[in-house]
Amino acid sequence: MALPTRVKIVEVAPRDGLQNEKTFVPTEVKIELIDRLSAAGFANIEAASFVSPKWVPQMADGAEVMAGIARRPGTIYSVLTPNMKGLEGALAARADEVVIFGAASEAFSQKNINCSIAESIARFEPVAQAAKAAGVRLRGSISCALGCPYQGEVPIEAVVDVVRRYMALGCDEVDVADTIGVGTPRRVREVMSAVTQVIDPARVSGHFHDTYGQSLANILASLEAGIGIFHASASGLGGCPYAKGATGNVATEDVLYMLRGLDIETGVDFDAVVDTGQWISACLQRAGGSRAGNAVAAKRAA
Ligand code: HMG
Ligand code: MG
Repeated sequence: MALPTRVKIVEVAPRDGLQNEKTFVPTEVKIELIDRLSAAGFANIEAASFVSPKWVPQMADGAEVMAGIARRPGTIYSVLTPNMKGLEGALAARADEVVIFGAASEAFSQKNINCSIAESIARFEPVAQAAKAAGVRLRGSISCALGCPYQGEVPIEAVVDVVRRYMALGCDEVDVADTIGVGTPRRVREVMSAVTQVIDPARVSGHFHDTYGQSLANILASLEAGIGIFHASASGLGGCPYAKGATGNVATEDVLYMLRGLDIETGVDFDAVVDTGQWISACLQRAGGSRAGNAVAAKRAA
């Protein structure tokens, strides 16, 4: 299949990137991160989570973050909403898109959101209805679509089943997430091919954590399967508190570098993302986590 000429990158550093940081990242740093990413031209930024602060303390300031950002016209600011309480917070914060997040693995569903897959879908039903009634976009994320830290192998049919359930809830977009970064290109192609039998590929995204260094290869395999939306995190920040040992999302700078080499447009300013990746890494007192970002920064310093 011919590769797309344009893809959408969803920048998830402010949410997936920061949620697992042990030390509380000040609200003004979160706001500056989002403002920098907005200025870099992202069409979609995952900005915050409206989840229990006991479960994920780092995301407790979602309302303040959403109130403080400078919104770029045309950018969709998304937030995670596991239940009605989260949805109410999201609507009050004027989120453009809410994300319900379930799993293709029962064990992970229990650990992450404290209920079974079937219970999670029942819990998402009123959230989806209220989001639709409010005219807000709805996205559904499927964790462990390529493997689970607790149960290991995840059948492709389990992923497809959640896709069907999300479509029945009215999701505008569905994320196929490799939470622990175990997937490899052949399996990714198989999963994406199966998923796109039941949903328009234009509504599917790939969300790859880079634990085993497979993300870029998996993105290429997804592109070949007709997928045109990818999640990435500046400087490769991130990880899920309920997926021990899993590292961050694929670094946005690395994805942009690869896509540029493939003549695929994103509308995102690569240099601005390199700056942002280096800046947020310095804020967190660590070395940059993007190979491409570090290479550019080293070249500039030479
Ligand atoms: P629970 O304890 O089963 O729910 O948590 P509950 O309804 O019994 O509520 C317990 C307490 O939490 C109550 O407070 C609620 O008010 C409060 P208390 O009475 O004890 O003081 N609460 C909330 N507070 C604020 N906002 C809310 C909210 N809901 C309840 N929305 C729940 C169930 C889902 C809430 C909990 O398990 C939770 O918040 N989990 C968060 C999980 C999470 O954020 N994980 C990381 C994001 S997912 C991810 O990273 C994967 C992804 O990147 C894709 C991939 O890579 O796989 C998307
Ligand atoms: Mg994730």
